[in-house]
Amino acid sequence: MKMKFLLAAALLLPALQSPMAGAGESTAAIERGRFLVKFGGCNDCHTPGYGEAAGKLPESTWLTGMPVGFQGPWGTSYPGNLRLDFAKWSEEEWLVQARTPRMPPMPWFGLAELSDDDLRAIYQYIRSLGPSGQPAPAYVAPGGVVTTPYIVFVPRVDAPKVAGR
Ligand code: HEC
Repeated sequence: MKMKFLLAAALLLPALQSPMAGAGESTAAIERGRFLVKFGGCNDCHTPGYGEAAGKLPESTWLTGMPVGFQGPWGTSYPGNLRLDFAKWSEEEWLVQARTPRMPPMPWFGLAELSDDDLRAIYQYIRSLGPSGQPAPAYVAPGGVVTTPYIVFVPRVDAPKVAGR
């Protein structure tokens, strides 16, 4: 009887341990994802008011997309609501999305160079926040009618020369 119990316990142990180990791993991935998102400046553009609040905004508001556009020769682009994007993307889709060229001022070339492991950590983190907020306004082509506030990027060819450049 005792023998049988020990045997059952021995068989059960790995089954009990593996989900716990998995949860531990994904907590570490979520923490790393949070760090990468913070340090990567994603909130600067994808979270309304983040810069103005010097980063002191509740995480519940993070990455919900920007209702203010960035206008330049490419038209008017809006940093999307990543909370909604990530709710619909699988982890594999995210690896493709993360390496897709985007319009300015999205620093896609830096994101594209992260390792698969780092990108997967970002995925785990943003997914852990869950979907929230509304979709960002749609992109407007050059010369189109813009109905939201926007920031204009104008390259000044007449700017005074800076010494050494
Ligand atoms: C300087 C502003 C800026 C920063 C910083 C920034 N983004 Fe973006 N992001 C944008 C803009 C603008 C777009 C829309 C570009 C387009 O439509 O092609 C965009 C688009 C995206 C998209 C495409 C999907 C969507 O909803 O628009 C993803 C994914 C994304 N950014 C992720 C990130 C991540 C992750 C970081 C941090 C590593 C980051 N961004 C940092 C401005 C920024």
